[in-house]
Amino acid sequence: MLLKGKKGIISGALDENSIAWKVAEKCFENGAKITLTNAPIALRMGKINELAEKCSSKVIPADLTSVEDIENLYDESSNLLGDKVDFILHSVGMSPNVRKNKEYGDLNYDWLNKTLDVSAISFHKMMQVAEKRNFLNKWSSVVGLSYIAAQRTFPFYSDMAEAKSLLESITRSYGYRLGKISKTRVNTISQSPTITTAGAGIEGFKAFYNYAEKMSPLGNATAEECASYCIFLFSDLSKKITMQNLFHDGGFSNTGISEDIIDQFS
Ligand code: NAI
Repeated sequence: MLLKGKKGIISGALDENSIAWKVAEKCFENGAKITLTNAPIALRMGKINELAEKCSSKVIPADLTSVEDIENLYDESSNLLGDKVDFILHSVGMSPNVRKNKEYGDLNYDWLNKTLDVSAISFHKMMQVAEKRNFLNKWSSVVGLSYIAAQRTFPFYSDMAEAKSLLESITRSYGYRLGKISKTRVNTISQSPTITTAGAGIEGFKAFYNYAEKMSPLGNATAEECASYCIFLFSDLSKKITMQNLFHDGGFSNTGISEDIIDQFS
């Protein structure tokens, strides 16, 4: 029961494959009270209501690019959970360029703005609104999800790489600020490729997923394992970890080549 007595907001649970879905389940198992949120359009699928029932939680619609929606999300969460929160998960990403197969050399710049807004600036907005209304408890924890394409080039990741770089930069800048203000820590988890709606939407994903599996001495980290890491970061066990991008990738990021890959080319 690592989160007993804690309250938080989980964004981005679309279906049972979503990383956020597993995080919500584990929060509940660990004694936390949570609210769930997703974009109004995603709620039409209706799946998230199953999760809400399982976690004795409520769903509050919010497009996280809208400051007004975030304000409403925090108001309603306060009403349901009481006052302030101890943790927030940002598990949101989307690129219209990737979705519509626009090549990196032919980006639609309006769509690029959308990619950055949804996948990175929304993280800033969530923290800015929280700061302005003093919504975060002392020693609270804010976590976002990133990908190694922020540091190294993965051609299929296109403009999402820019979004993840920005997300990680916001993590450092806001981590400093919220650390000073409320002892809040802010981190991103750089997760292995994971089979989810967002993941599988990327061209060549399956091949890359298999490659990463063979490159990582521990194998790819699953969504469930990522959820366990989130619980640790929300818990008091990680009080002094902040402003970090934390690789959760079975060792992929520090592996030059593996025997499995060598065998494949021999
Ligand atoms: P997912 O597709 O289940 O989750 C993405 C969520 O973002 C969806 O629930 C979607 O409705 C939500 N969303 C999109 N636009 C939104 C908006 N304007 N407002 C609010 N919510 C919005 O996929 P997954 O994989 O669970 O993604 C979660 C996070 O993990 C994303 O940041 C993703 O980039 C990151 N990640 C995923 C990896 C993968 O291979 N699946 C690897 C590394 C990081």
